[in-house]
Amino acid sequence: MIVIHENPFLKSSITKNTCLRYIGNTPLVQLKSITKDFPETMQIWGKLEGLNPGGSVKDRAAMMMILKGIESGELTPDKVILDSTSGNTGIALAMIGSVLKIPVELCVPGNASGERIQRMEAYGAKVIFSSPLEGSDGAILEARKLYEENPDKYFKPDQYANPANPLAHVMSTGPEIWKQTNEKVTHFVAAIGTTGTIMGTGRFLKGKNPNIQIIAAEPDDAFHGLEGLKHMESSLVPAIFHPEELDGKISVPTEPAYALARKLAREEGIFAGQSSGAAVYAAREVALKLLDQGQEEACIVTILCDSGDKYYSKGLWDFSIPYKDDR
Ligand SMILES: Cc1ncc(COP(=O)(O)O)c(C=O)c1O
Repeated sequence: MIVIHENPFLKSSITKNTCLRYIGNTPLVQLKSITKDFPETMQIWGKLEGLNPGGSVKDRAAMMMILKGIESGELTPDKVILDSTSGNTGIALAMIGSVLKIPVELCVPGNASGERIQRMEAYGAKVIFSSPLEGSDGAILEARKLYEENPDKYFKPDQYANPANPLAHVMSTGPEIWKQTNEKVTHFVAAIGTTGTIMGTGRFLKGKNPNIQIIAAEPDDAFHGLEGLKHMESSLVPAIFHPEELDGKISVPTEPAYALARKLAREEGIFAGQSSGAAVYAAREVALKLLDQGQEEACIVTILCDSGDKYYSKGLWDFSIPYKDDR
């Protein structure tokens, strides 16, 4: 049996009297417009991760990796935090670095949105660009190279391989969902990047009730437009990813994910990014499949990973560009 932990960020002496205490404990809201054609008992709920201090779910993983680094003695006051990130983890590390007075250097694909880069720089981080053609894999290789050239200078959280990434969700996201649904959650759906969210939350929820279905939302193509997410077949597979722990995977096309992000803003008052649209697309597919099978009751929970303010330059909020929600 897994015990329910107190929010680890609220408890830590390192986060005392800072905004870092307010990582996690995000609201869970029912997405009623998404399910308006379904029976009332077929519910989809979204966790508003954009309300974290750094604006995304990645605050949780970044904070846990830093806490564990300090705890193990690997992250000492003379070190620089170095990581590869398509944006949100970078923002989270930069935000935490600013509070804890630790310098941060981030390798970012050259096509990451300007809003993300500006935010990392606003927190005082140094941004190093990798080839836009190589996507997040290029950023991973660049950070690896910098680290190998100067291993004593850096603390490299390595979110793709660091067990503290999924652990953040075992200790916070999972218990929060369990409590917020009054232990009624039946399906957990998460879009996958490093896979920390789905691995950790899934592990916790399965420990509480092995019948809970854990389902990944994955871009349907190597050349997708869903920043932060990974098409596994064509990517470097994260070491923390254990697909055998999942119950299913749904391929998400880019256009409907954008359309659903807009629908969240227009009809639910939720200003979230396109990966949230992808997660909602997958959650809705799960609901439709259950209804097809004659099952009318479910409590499907998904993660609305970040706020929409990093995607102005990506056309997400330019309504003159039409996106089709083809379902
Ligand atoms: C916008 C966005 N959505 C989803 C994810 C996926 O989360 P995870 O890395 O926990 O799989 C990320 C990861 O960076 C992200 O930036």
